[in-house]
Amino acid sequence: MDKYKATCKSPANIAFIKYWGKADPKTRVPQNNSISMCLSDLCSVCTIEFKKEFKKDKIKFLNEKVIKPREIERIIKVLDRVKDLAKTNLRAKIVTKNNFPKATGVASSASGLSAVTLAACQALGLKLTKVELSKLARLASGTASRSIPDGFVEWKKGTNGSNSYAVQIFSPDYWQISDVVAIVTQKMKKIPSTSGHKLADTSPFQKTRIAGIHKKINAIKKTMKKKDFTKFGQILEQEALSMHAICLTSQPSILYWNQTTVKIIKKVKQWRENMELESYFTIDAGPTVHVICQSKDEKKLAGKLKKIKGIERIVINRPSIGARTIDKHLF
Ligand code: PMV
Repeated sequence: MDKYKATCKSPANIAFIKYWGKADPKTRVPQNNSISMCLSDLCSVCTIEFKKEFKKDKIKFLNEKVIKPREIERIIKVLDRVKDLAKTNLRAKIVTKNNFPKATGVASSASGLSAVTLAACQALGLKLTKVELSKLARLASGTASRSIPDGFVEWKKGTNGSNSYAVQIFSPDYWQISDVVAIVTQKMKKIPSTSGHKLADTSPFQKTRIAGIHKKINAIKKTMKKKDFTKFGQILEQEALSMHAICLTSQPSILYWNQTTVKIIKKVKQWRENMELESYFTIDAGPTVHVICQSKDEKKLAGKLKKIKGIERIVINRPSIGARTIDKHLF
């Protein structure tokens, strides 16, 4: 391995129980625990090299037309945190890429910022545990904390920055379920999730949602333990709608969906009612729909989704391992 240079690959993740609303915006401690699965085919790769000769940090995004200053700032902040831990002032060159469009409801900040976090730690020779890495990634983006462990993951909200992190609840090969992702636009959403989190408390329903979430977490974990796909799917869908109910009733309100999102929701329900195919939808902060099925049905589901007009890309995902180092550098 090169000294001061490392490359990491990290998955996006889909939340079965959502994180929506922060208890502390500064440390990104959430109001509730959340549950997710790391995705095999939606990921980010990041190479970082630190060198004495570099006069300033240089960041390059491959395959991206629009880069917002905020994205650069978030990466620089990760570097600063890791450099503090490693007690160094070296500057870095960073090249990063996603294999999917960012800010459309696929967790690009989760995969991107967990990859940057791990690559920076690795390049500076820091030996951190997964729990430490998850906490560090959380400071960059809440959902990034859930891309560190492998497979099915629970982010324990904790009470403060030092005890809020994600852990594995089941390994990737525990359950053969798939997330067939229907990307319905390449356009970036207008309201970033950071603003959405801030608005959550303006919804009159947020208190009710939070009051019931502990029970919901226990219930969904029970269905996962039993591999009871039907009950699991019912909770999953109801939870997605609950998060979007908060968005819709925030002040100002947020509607992340478009026409194709609604079309897919209706089709998924119809396929179940007609006993054609059992699958359940969930949606993060964007119009993209994640349709969850048993892996034996993933191809059939993808085939059915392909017939819906307005879907730009379909990506089949299995549960995957979390952030890891790889040998192939981007530069
Ligand atoms: O992008 P973040 O880390 O600020 O949070 C987005 C949260 C959702 O994706 C909408 C839900 C979740 O738990 O992943």
